[in-house]
Amino acid sequence: MTSQVNPDLRQLVRGTLEGKRVLITGAGRGLGRSYALHLARAGADVAVTDLSLHSFREYEAEAALMRGDTVVSELHDIGVQALGYEVDATDEEAMKGVVDSIQTAWGGLDVLVNNVGGGSYSQGLDTRPSTLPIRDLRDNFERNLVSTVIACQLAIPIMGSGASIINIGSQAGEAATEAMYSAYGSAKAAVAHYSRFLANELGPRGIRVNVVAPGYIATGRLSKVFAEVGEKSVENRIALGRIGTPEDCASAIEFLAGEGSRYITSQTLKVDGGSLNFATSRQ
Ligand SMILES: NC(=O)c1ccc[n+]([C@@H]2O[C@H](COP(=O)([O-])OP(=O)(O)OC[C@H]3O[C@@H](n4cnc5c(N)ncnc54)[C@H](O)[C@@H]3O)[C@@H](O)[C@H]2O)c1
Repeated sequence: MTSQVNPDLRQLVRGTLEGKRVLITGAGRGLGRSYALHLARAGADVAVTDLSLHSFREYEAEAALMRGDTVVSELHDIGVQALGYEVDATDEEAMKGVVDSIQTAWGGLDVLVNNVGGGSYSQGLDTRPSTLPIRDLRDNFERNLVSTVIACQLAIPIMGSGASIINIGSQAGEAATEAMYSAYGSAKAAVAHYSRFLANELGPRGIRVNVVAPGYIATGRLSKVFAEVGEKSVENRIALGRIGTPEDCASAIEFLAGEGSRYITSQTLKVDGGSLNFATSRQ
């Protein structure tokens, strides 16, 4: 799926990322969609992937946010160039098709955001680290780590000096939080550590690699969970006393994508309102 730039709107888009060519995986809804729209408003041309670009239909709150048929038409309405692909990020051949297509359309890539991820759990099974089903462990590593490595390996050849790779971690990858996150958190920790190795390798080529590790962020998917457990009990675990928004994370992505972070690589930026360091809980 592609859409052409609207020249009347394009000249109105001016920002910190003007002229940058960006690829964001898993951007049909949630944080990925928010990153896509935010970076486009900062002037970037944006390519997005998802298993389904209509994945927002799974959550009422996500569907209510939509201002177009998919994020691709929303990007078009901002006035930037937009490309959209329905592919599985763990499928190397399919992802090669995406990167080849971007190379043909835009001649290269400046920013890669590996957002595909999330936890998966076998219903009703014990997910403690001592007993978690190996199938779940494999599944979490495949979706979070393997998808990230595939996109990095394919994109690096079309990225030049000044480019930025942003991989998405999680607070569960930074600290041993609830037991149910043991497979997911281990996979996110691996994403962060792979990113440090990659930053070392790509530093001499002028390509930076960083990680954004979100905390409790109110996407359509997680808002449901927060409502079930009680928002107040979640807020009580956060230094800033509020659940984060996708925009809170998108601002960090914009910073790591742009010139302002030119001497920052190999870092994990926690966008968690201070929850990871908040060792107590308010009453
Ligand atoms: N929401 C949070 O509070 C939070 C906290 C920490 C980390 N994260 C991380 O941020 C990222 C986005 O989270 P979200 O809450 O927006 O999730 P989400 O489930 O709402 O969105 C993920 C999107 O990725 C797509 N996707 C999943 N597997 C895919 C695959 N194999 N190939 C292509 N697309 C695929 C889905 O269809 C969906 O549109 C994930 O990596 C997640 O682990 C989120």
